[in-house]
Amino acid sequence: MKKGMFITLEGGEGAGKSTLAQTLTTFLQAKDIGVMLTREPGGTKEAEAIRSLVVSGDKDRFDPITESLLFNAARRHHLTHSILPALESGTWVICDRFVDSTLVYQGYVQGVDIDFLKKLHHDVCEDVFPDLTLLLEVPVDIGLYRAHRRQHNISETRFEQKGHEFHETVRSAFLELAQQHTDRYCVLDGTLSENDLTQAAMKYINSLLQQHN
Ligand SMILES: Nc1ncnc2c1ncn2[C@@H]1O[C@H](COP(=O)(O)OP(=O)(O)OP(=O)(O)O)[C@@H](O)[C@H]1O
Ligand SMILES: [Mg+2]
Repeated sequence: MKKGMFITLEGGEGAGKSTLAQTLTTFLQAKDIGVMLTREPGGTKEAEAIRSLVVSGDKDRFDPITESLLFNAARRHHLTHSILPALESGTWVICDRFVDSTLVYQGYVQGVDIDFLKKLHHDVCEDVFPDLTLLLEVPVDIGLYRAHRRQHNISETRFEQKGHEFHETVRSAFLELAQQHTDRYCVLDGTLSENDLTQAAMKYINSLLQQHN
């Protein structure tokens, strides 16, 4: 059986990642493709326990190096127990955030050495990279407004609490990563309506489907 395709969604707070991830999952299921929707940090019971540590509580609770180690510990569990077995069995995986979020939030934004983070990814997470990364690009104010307006996940505000400048750097760092990895990155305009955004994303998914067949 052919390996499944691995798709990740990246972008700042409130960019629309989770919404689009759900829509794309439903779309692929309708095409009779086996697909698993998952998220980071988290995705397994053990990694979700680490998630609850890192995304809640005081914004200065962990220094960036501790955060990097916690995210990598969660990612290793998620990869080895969930993502890689699914891909091996031919299931497609859609993951809401992945390694690029660590490079951006802990590396570019909070100053952890990028080479150290790449080495961690290599040694801890088997250097697994997605086939396709969809970057949802929205102005910081729009993203934060959407994230605040949303009523659920009221406890997961640790990163939202960081200041405006933090989120501006997140935005430009993701764009820089997209420019460095044009082979797998597609930048989408996250201010489009949900419908138009889905159509834009489907162009890229359809080309993956063609490669896969
Ligand atoms: N294309 C869109 N246009 C307008 N609103 C949207 C769009 N996509 C999502 N939203 C709304 O914006 C809010 C944030 O969306 P979503 O939760 O998908 O973002 P996210 O990137 O997953 O955020 P977070 O980083 O906080 O997890 C939700 O209330 C959602 O309904
Ligand atoms: Mg989300």
